[in-house]
Amino acid sequence: MERNGADGNRECTWPAVEKKVLAEAFGPLYLQHGRDRRLAPWVHRVGAEVTLFDYFGVTALLLLAASGTWLGRRAKHAERPAIKWVGLVLSSVVALACTAALVAVIVGYYRINYPANRQAAADIRISGTPDQIARGARFGALCAGCHSADGNAPLVGRNFLPDGPSFGTLWAPNLTPAGELANWSDGEVIRAIREGVHKSGRSLVVMPSPVFHQLGDDDVEAIVAYLRSQPATQPSSPPTSLNVLAAFLIGSGLAPTSVQPHITQRVLAPPEEISVERGKYLISIATCSRCHGEQLTGGEGGDPEAPAGPNLRAILTKWEVEDFIRTIRTGVDPYNHTLAEGMPWKEISAFASDTDLGAMYMYLHGLPLMTATTD
Ligand code: HEC
Ligand code: HEC
Repeated sequence: MERNGADGNRECTWPAVEKKVLAEAFGPLYLQHGRDRRLAPWVHRVGAEVTLFDYFGVTALLLLAASGTWLGRRAKHAERPAIKWVGLVLSSVVALACTAALVAVIVGYYRINYPANRQAAADIRISGTPDQIARGARFGALCAGCHSADGNAPLVGRNFLPDGPSFGTLWAPNLTPAGELANWSDGEVIRAIREGVHKSGRSLVVMPSPVFHQLGDDDVEAIVAYLRSQPATQPSSPPTSLNVLAAFLIGSGLAPTSVQPHITQRVLAPPEEISVERGKYLISIATCSRCHGEQLTGGEGGDPEAPAGPNLRAILTKWEVEDFIRTIRTGVDPYNHTLAEGMPWKEISAFASDTDLGAMYMYLHGLPLMTATTD
């Protein structure tokens, strides 16, 4: 299977015969990888080329499916009808469930390793003017919530699965020059941000590329200039590995990957001025809807990372633009209420200039009043 972009990195350290036999047995999945002993035994990689696959989990599922089938055949020959039928039903359920799960897992690994968008990254070099770096640093505030343990620059990375249900190893990686990005081209970093594709060509997960897909060229280039300008800060993050549970969620459609359509044209964001278009763009990039609801009519809560924010349409009709700017800058609203921790006003304040906040206000203020029930 052909993959654009990163094919130059294959190492061929295994004996040719072994490679050929395994390649025939496992097909394209095998061809993409070799071994790296530093990784968990079920994560295989060659150079920058990574194929995520959980051999252990897939084998366990296969064995379970096979045992279910085997037990079913034994139950069929049981003398006592009760044992026969209960055994048959139970073992068929196990065999069917494991087979279905296995299919979803394989589909999941396919989606992870062979994203629909496998286009080569654009060949561009970003000069990194002081102006670009300063602008990019403001956008960096939107990355810090995930790519930094304390929410501040530099973006040294954070473990996303410290103790939750285990899906493998997933860090929002170190984005300073001490991390992987030092070996990525500018085009590859841009592709990762806007299109959700790793340098190796695999899909990223969790990374909010569906939101960043609309970033204008100027903005995304400024972000890359900023990432490159950070001090190289250790330690670099461990590579991602996703186990069968993660692959199952992705394969069954319960969890998406971050992959977005390939961008071939120049993307022009609305110019930096106080306009409804710019406001809409910024509100979208800053993902206010994550907590304040799809229509900004109030969020549902339930997710600790996305507490329910109030109806912004209702609030902003009553506020002047100064009230809005002061609230975001100070964390205290016009009624002297100190905003709860859940509202990331510091990040938003670090991200948005006064012009930006003016544009956001103009957009929000102009939205028709709606209540949360409309979807
Ligand atoms: C919701 C959390 C979240 C936010 C916000 C976020 N990221 Fe990520 N990002 C991740 C995770 C998790 C990964 C790793 C995904 C994987 O390995 O499949 C990632 C991966 C990346 C990668 C690929 C790097 C690598 O070594 O694999 C880049 C580049 C990146 N993010 C840039 C950014 C930038 C720039 C921003 C801000 C504009 C940002 N991210 C905001 C969670 C986030
Ligand atoms: C991570 C969740 C989250 C995000 C993202 C978020 N908010 Fe909030 N927001 C909240 C919560 C929760 C509150 C309620 C805080 C309180 O009342 O103490 C709030 C309150 C506010 C208030 C004050 C309302 C009042 O009556 O005092 C404003 C204004 C606001 N948000 C605007 C925004 C804008 C604009 C964005 C995007 C740029 C945004 N928020 C993004 C969670 C969020």
